Amino acid sequence: MNFARYYHTASILANGLVLVTGGYNGSTYLSSAELYNPSTGTWTITGNMSIARKEPILSILANGLVLVTGGYNGITYLNSAELYNSSTGTWTITGSMNFARYFHTASTLANGLVLVAGGAISSGVYLNSAELYNPSIGTWTTTTNMSVARGHQTASILENGSVLVASGCNPAYLNSAEVY
Ligand SMILES: *[C@@H]1O[C@H](CO)[C@@H](O)[C@H](O)[C@H]1NC(C)=O
Ligand SMILES: *[C@@H]1O[C@H](CO)[C@@H](O)[C@H](O)[C@H]1NC(C)=O
Ligand SMILES: *[C@@H]1O[C@H](CO)[C@@H](O)[C@H](O)[C@H]1NC(C)=O
Ligand SMILES: *[C@@H]1O[C@H](CO)[C@@H](O)[C@H](O)[C@H]1NC(C)=O
Repeated sequence: MNFARYYHTASILANGLVLVTGGYNGSTYLSSAELYNPSTGTWTITGNMSIARKEPILSILANGLVLVTGGYNGITYLNSAELYNSSTGTWTITGSMNFARYFHTASTLANGLVLVAGGAISSGVYLNSAELYNPSIGTWTTTTNMSVARGHQTASILENGSVLVASGCNPAYLNSAEVY
């Protein structure tokens, strides 16, 4: 890659390229993003996010845009979200989440909405809140809270369209699971 980084995130785009964004390099929180081209095995720099963030979460939307949510920029936990358009290679700020969070999950539902659940807003403070992003209007609405606050969980979309959220910590290690 062009930049050393850890605590970054990666997602496979519809065009086959892999988008890597954000992270931390030991001294600086990163806004930079780059694309891996599997046919050449090389990395190209693409547009920077507006906000540096480590441990953000990427979601591929039905319209092909990539949504980045939350993370931490070294000063504050982020509620901001941005959209990446691979045709222009640029990021645009979209609506902010109701809750700042990292260590959360994001799942693109069959109806096109993105479900963001849980996470943390500082070490030891975990969230039970969940919210939905509507790509057609670019805004977030809170939805039913999880029964248990959790971060570092997993979220899996089941065949019937429900989302299985499993385990994580709050900060106790959890074995509970719930379905949205
Ligand atoms: C993007 O971020 C990198 C790393 O912080 C910086 O070197 C570069 O100048 C930035 N690019 C633009 C176009 O701002
Ligand atoms: C991405 O950018 C292109 C070029 O500006 C534009 O035509 C297209 O509508 C954008 N995609 C979305 C989903 O907004
Ligand atoms: C959901 O959780 C949030 C944050 O913990 C809290 O502010 C809110 O009141 C809860 N909502 C409901 C419907 O219980
Ligand atoms: C999908 O399956 C799960 C697991 O059996 C169940 O809890 C959930 O209610 C189902 N969702 C729908 C929409 O039927």
